[in-house]
Amino acid sequence: MTASMQALRERAEAFGQEHVFRFWAELDEAGKTQLAADLAQVDFPLMKRLADSWIHDEPPAETFDQIVPVPVIDKVDPERPDAVEAFAAGEDALRAGRVGLFLVAGGQGTRLGFDGPKGAYPIGPITGKTLFAYHAEKIRNLQRRYGCTLPWYIMVSHANGTATEAFFREQAFFGLDENNVKFITQRMVPCMDEQGRFMLESPGHLAMNPNGHGGCIPAMVENGVIADAESRGIDLLCYFQVDNWAVKVADPYFIGYHVRANAGMSSKNHRKNAPREAVGVHCLCDGQYRVIEYSELDIYPQLLETDATGKVIYYAGNPAIHILSTSFVSEVFNRFDDFPWHRAHKKVPYIDEAGHPVKPETPNAYKFETFVFDALRFIEHPPVALEIGRAGEYTPIKTFSGDNSVEAARAAMGDYWGAWFEAMGIEIPRDTEGHVAVPIEISPEFALTQEEFLEKAAGLAVSPGKGIAITADGTIIQP
Ligand code: UD1
Repeated sequence: MTASMQALRERAEAFGQEHVFRFWAELDEAGKTQLAADLAQVDFPLMKRLADSWIHDEPPAETFDQIVPVPVIDKVDPERPDAVEAFAAGEDALRAGRVGLFLVAGGQGTRLGFDGPKGAYPIGPITGKTLFAYHAEKIRNLQRRYGCTLPWYIMVSHANGTATEAFFREQAFFGLDENNVKFITQRMVPCMDEQGRFMLESPGHLAMNPNGHGGCIPAMVENGVIADAESRGIDLLCYFQVDNWAVKVADPYFIGYHVRANAGMSSKNHRKNAPREAVGVHCLCDGQYRVIEYSELDIYPQLLETDATGKVIYYAGNPAIHILSTSFVSEVFNRFDDFPWHRAHKKVPYIDEAGHPVKPETPNAYKFETFVFDALRFIEHPPVALEIGRAGEYTPIKTFSGDNSVEAARAAMGDYWGAWFEAMGIEIPRDTEGHVAVPIEISPEFALTQEEFLEKAAGLAVSPGKGIAITADGTIIQP
């Protein structure tokens, strides 16, 4: 055993985790190197703190004297003076090249049951276009429109990084300049069993999980995103999640509100449609901006209250769309030790004492994660919380069917883009509930807004048939 491996072993022993070496004698060199690499990235004191406070002892929930819905900026009305000013400021920032994009795509995507990076999911109902391709086409459109470069930073994890990069290469970076697409890898943390012990996934490999999207804060600083952005004159990072095909990746209104408030971090929110909708809730807790995660709603039952008309009182759902100023990221990075960790009880495959693989049927282990929205507590300005509608902004894909599913996303695409065809005078079939009844897709590179579509597609003669897709160059595809 080399001196550094010996030191790791002693460290593991000091923290009661020496059992992870139990197959050491049987490991080949590659296995030993792998286990040492896993252990080298472990923050042992942190894991001990998490085990002490979250496993050995149930920590008391945070209590607040007062929780109120966050005050929101009403949905954009393009005629409203504040919106006009925000739009102009946002467009100026885009034209000036101050904006970069930050995508979190490091999650394990287990709920969708898709074998591969979630962004490679073929969401387009006709073209089979992937989530990544949708985001890329929006970027191409915006770069053309504003004559700017929008560098795209993509956070991946050890669980999916290689596959994600390979997919981008295979797709020739979706026509984007490879130098403006940068992958960064977030840190992993060990999963712990119900006694707070690390687990082995294989004899030479710890069972680990990505450290949550809050891990983007250290990842941005340690992996050079902030330095790269600032060297390009970028001070604003538009943050979004891979699973939302509809997201406006760089919305001039949102950017403008953020810039005009000289904000460190801003967020969008949408009206929750049911008290238990699986989204976080934007609130002020004793005056501090927080998002309370949907898994924690029962701790704060008032968040489930409805008014006399049945509307959710704490209505501001979290679509996970933020803007972070680079200076704010650097500040929060210095306080990352104060970031809260969240615990999830999960089914984690492992090998038992005899080395046999076990696939548990019920949750057997804890995963610990940080959440980016916990950075909102560090803002030093009044909240910039912009309300959005769902159509054309928020349709995430968490599962295959039901709420927030692939099926729901495809239906939403039909309704959203079907209306653009109708605005051109083309009749689109609708079902008895008023939803568009055929699949419709419009490439965001061809048109990002209805206005742009009407301009570019003027005179287009097409009948709906079994569905219509318009590609980036305006070609019509019909199934
Ligand atoms: C998330 C939000 C929830 C919000 C909802 C909106 C959390 C904890 N909650 O819920 O408040 O209302 O989205 O759709 O995020 N990711 C990483 N690294 C990780 C973990 C996740 O990059 O370590 C990325 C995923 O790839 C994904 C995003 O973060 O793009 C969200 O993760 P997911 O697990 O899907 O969150 P939700 O539970 O759906």
